[in-house]
Amino acid sequence: MARHRQSTKIKAEQKNPDLPPSQELIPCEGCSVVHPPVFIPTEEQPKPPVPSCKHASAPAECPLRKYMSEAAHLEVEIGPGMGRFILAHSANNPDIQMVGIEKETVRVAHVDIEARKRGINNLRLVCGEALPFLIACVPPASVEKLYIFYPDPWPKRKHHKNRLFQKNFIDAVWNCLKPDGTLNAVTDHADYFRHMLEVMEGEGRFELTDAFTRTEDERTDFELRFTALGMEAHTASWKKR
Ligand SMILES: C[S@@+](CC[C@H](N)C(=O)[O-])C[C@H]1O[C@@H](n2cnc3c(N)ncnc32)[C@H](O)[C@@H]1O
Repeated sequence: MARHRQSTKIKAEQKNPDLPPSQELIPCEGCSVVHPPVFIPTEEQPKPPVPSCKHASAPAECPLRKYMSEAAHLEVEIGPGMGRFILAHSANNPDIQMVGIEKETVRVAHVDIEARKRGINNLRLVCGEALPFLIACVPPASVEKLYIFYPDPWPKRKHHKNRLFQKNFIDAVWNCLKPDGTLNAVTDHADYFRHMLEVMEGEGRFELTDAFTRTEDERTDFELRFTALGMEAHTASWKKR
């Protein structure tokens, strides 16, 4: 119900004629790039359809891929959620080009509206699944920093296969990072953090480096919520060898 109210509010805000035009839209039929229509769950269709990149076999035709190829300092956040980090980080660093890949349409729409309200123009949002996006859309060796905050930990053993940190994801991250580019992760979940450290150490293609730092306004929504409950924010950064 709260979700429904949020969707309705976002839909109304999108129609606000006083908002500046969106900087996020890169027209791209093939990739289902934002703005997706705000999805209001119903009983028949409780989850939004997950868009995916249809330019995998013709990457040169993808405007988003072109945008990223031309970026001098490209940074990507996976799963920005309600966008506290990505909005503040884009505003604090106008010289970088920031891209967020988020699978929930309502969250993408919310971040887009906030970016427009704040006049942020170095942020692009993509609604979709992170892995196909990294594989199909992000040009090889183009990203300086890749961020992931509070990825879903999938705590039950039988669900570990759903965790993002596994071989195919790490291959994709390695391919899209520049030499010396970094993968930066934060989680409250001690077991998932151990898993991340093990998987990355076993890789040999990354080296653990000093954990990245952020400004106070770049702490994420989940981070604020969990640290208020006394939970630790486990942070690590790995540099591409
Ligand atoms: C636990 S929330 C954390 C949100 C935000 N990073 C924060 O720290 O406040 C995880 C977010 O990642 C998104 N997400 C999870 N798996 C994803 C995937 N495979 N591709 C894109 N987004 C994903 C979820 O929709 C959700 O918004």
